Amino acid sequence: MDINSLKGKLHTKLIGKEIHFHGETPSTNDEAKRLARAGAGEGTVVIAGSQLNGRGKLGRTWFSPKGKGIYLSIIIEPFKSQENLLPLTLLGALSAARALNGLTDLGAKVKWPNDIMVSGKKIGGVLTETLKGPRGTNPIIIGIGLNIYTEKTGLPEELKTNTTSLTIEGAKKVPIPKLITTLLEEMEKLYFLMLANKSDQIIDEWKILCETVGRHIKIRAEGATWEGKVTDIGDDGELIIKTFDGRIKWFATGDIIK
Ligand code: BTN
Repeated sequence: MDINSLKGKLHTKLIGKEIHFHGETPSTNDEAKRLARAGAGEGTVVIAGSQLNGRGKLGRTWFSPKGKGIYLSIIIEPFKSQENLLPLTLLGALSAARALNGLTDLGAKVKWPNDIMVSGKKIGGVLTETLKGPRGTNPIIIGIGLNIYTEKTGLPEELKTNTTSLTIEGAKKVPIPKLITTLLEEMEKLYFLMLANKSDQIIDEWKILCETVGRHIKIRAEGATWEGKVTDIGDDGELIIKTFDGRIKWFATGDIIK
């Protein structure tokens, strides 16, 4: 894939007004941070054909083989500094799920806070980071990785049970540039909703697509492991659980382990 395959096909006002394409790069999030520090504007997108040091949540590695997936990062710079990255993580995951559901019949879902799921397995993830920008604001990097043409045999052993891709699911072949333009268009629609103070619509859609609400879960958060039933998602995207001893707990970060 190269940048020319996106030219003229992306119908957005802001997201993707500048696109940087790399055949290979350490991490699109790192490259987007470098660009943001150098003054790149809101809406700048970095796309890679493969990543040598793709990063996931909690310092994990993101498997990023050449030509098999989507690896991209978007710089956004909300007018009021947004210190809470959670709403943007949810927004990133919903954009990706919407794109997959618009172009395939896989029935993609989301899992709190940053996973995109198909058939109970992870097909993609979001890594949201912030930095000190040159204009006194705090640009936010939304990094999205999606497994598209990965074959089961091509997956590292530790990913084989819980990871999937469009190819593994037997979905019809969708070109990566088409998926990228759809994802960026969905992200712009959702981001504009957020800027118009209509984040409740994003949370409502999240709850519909969410694999997590209503389930009994175990979550590692605040240095401990908690167990309980997920009762709701809060206005800012927090996970709300009722523990077995009846306590209501709100989490803004955490890793669901079961
Ligand atoms: C996760 O589920 O742990 C988050 C995965 C995020 C991966 C994407 S790929 C593009 C961007 N660049 C990175 O180094 N990571 C994100």
